[in-house]
Amino acid sequence: MNEETLKFNYAHNDTGVPERESRTSGLNKLRVSDEVSRLRSSAHQREVPTASDETLNFLLALALAKNAENILEVGCAEGITSLALLNTCKRAHVTAIERDGRFICAFKDNLSAYAKRCTLLTGDAADICLTLEDGAYDFIFLDCAKVQYIKLLPELKRILKKNGVLVADDVLMYGWVNGEAETPKKRRMLVEHIKEYITAVTNDDGLATAILDIGNGVAMSVKRN
Ligand SMILES: C[S@@+](CC[C@H](N)C(=O)[O-])C[C@H]1O[C@@H](n2cnc3c(N)ncnc32)[C@H](O)[C@@H]1O
Repeated sequence: MNEETLKFNYAHNDTGVPERESRTSGLNKLRVSDEVSRLRSSAHQREVPTASDETLNFLLALALAKNAENILEVGCAEGITSLALLNTCKRAHVTAIERDGRFICAFKDNLSAYAKRCTLLTGDAADICLTLEDGAYDFIFLDCAKVQYIKLLPELKRILKKNGVLVADDVLMYGWVNGEAETPKKRRMLVEHIKEYITAVTNDDGLATAILDIGNGVAMSVKRN
């Protein structure tokens, strides 16, 4: 792929701000296959987004504890986290949503050995989620544009199975959301959207939610019966 075309600008990216690390990040050790490690190194070099070590470590442990069978990844980029989830949860099927056409080829290459256990849905998550069945997923990883989280929440709750887990990444946003660091003016609206998501999931009677200081911040919500 032409490197010129591979400039990934996301609303929350700010090149002046280093990736946030929690106080426990140095204690966690991500253990993934050589293939996943190689793909992650390549993604880091090319500035292709993928979950941080600490976040992926948490996600894999949780998916294993849950014995996840039907996983949805909302915003999958090159499918590296999808691959790690498939390696970890041997019985799982992963449905992955991605709207950026530049990732499709890499996703298909990376997941070629798992074609029967994964489905890529291309397009906007807001449209695609409307087409998914009620209670279809026992594990959802929400990692698309952060401004979309609050908009997607009603549909994600609908398609999440009872006792299913919804993990939303990046909810502390470099510490802007919890006041650890001052929010740059141009990111204030984004931070408001994330706060709205946090308020919604922590006040929802249908969910049990924990906001966790993992990586760039994770909101873990479990759907009540
Ligand atoms: C942080 S990256 C995903 C990284 C991936 N989850 C991983 O761990 O390897 C976010 C991805 O979400 C995609 N995305 C953002 N908004 C989206 C939307 N509304 N619908 C579908 N995909 C979206 C972006 O194109 C990008 O590839």
